[in-house]
Amino acid sequence: MNIPDLEPLKTISSQFSIDETLQYLVNNYQNSVCFSTSFGQEDQVITNIIARNKLALNIFTIDTGRMFQETYDVYQNTIEKYGINIVTYFPEATNLEKLVSEKGPNSFYNSVENRKECCLIRKVLPLTKALQGMSIWITGLRAAQSESRNDLQLFEYDFKYKVIKYNPLLQWTLEEVETYLQKNNVPQSSLHKRGFVSIGCAPCTRAIEKGEDIRAGRWWWETSHKECGLHQK
Ligand code: ADX
Ligand code: SF4
Repeated sequence: MNIPDLEPLKTISSQFSIDETLQYLVNNYQNSVCFSTSFGQEDQVITNIIARNKLALNIFTIDTGRMFQETYDVYQNTIEKYGINIVTYFPEATNLEKLVSEKGPNSFYNSVENRKECCLIRKVLPLTKALQGMSIWITGLRAAQSESRNDLQLFEYDFKYKVIKYNPLLQWTLEEVETYLQKNNVPQSSLHKRGFVSIGCAPCTRAIEKGEDIRAGRWWWETSHKECGLHQK
């Protein structure tokens, strides 16, 4: 797959709106541009923009098998509301059978190594499959989500997955995201009202307290750099 030059894309995104930039990507990269959604608030903004503009781009989600029921409810409400198709990637059954049979259903609580093994099988490998043949990967990453995400770029090359990543909401605040969702009546998870901000798998996500970091509820029992391997930051 030919990876586009970064510089022209940076120029386009600095001159045009998100809607226009997405339209440009669809026009120029057709089947090799995709958007990954976990049905979080940022992703729901992007899905709304895609649906509102009737953009023909691939939307996919990774179902780890350990999602919250509330996440499936957002998924269902979203496809019903917008009449769009979302492709779902699952972990390989044989990998899961081996993992759970050998280490039990909750091995991720035992060590960082075990947790990363579970993330590899349930998230990273399905993502690798989803990104095959893609040149541009759109995500809902925001700079304010964590200190390490602070220096992300709007368009940047992802060395791990060998695609260009486009993070259209990079500079949005959480408040801007929430206002957009409300104004546009976008489906969202009922968990947000209960203190959940960043939401991943159910056993690895908790609500956060006032004043806590946005990502404090993810793998809350760990103290190390908390990423699952989808993103390096
Ligand atoms: S994670 O690396 O900690 O899990 P986070 O939840 O912040 O990521 O989400 C950042 C972006 O990663 C989302 O906006 C979405 O593009 C992508 N993403 C995260 N989880 C999934 C998933 N299960 N399926 C598809 N995309 C996902
Ligand atoms: Fe496994 Fe938890 Fe990672 Fe989900 S977030 S893949 S359950 S370790």
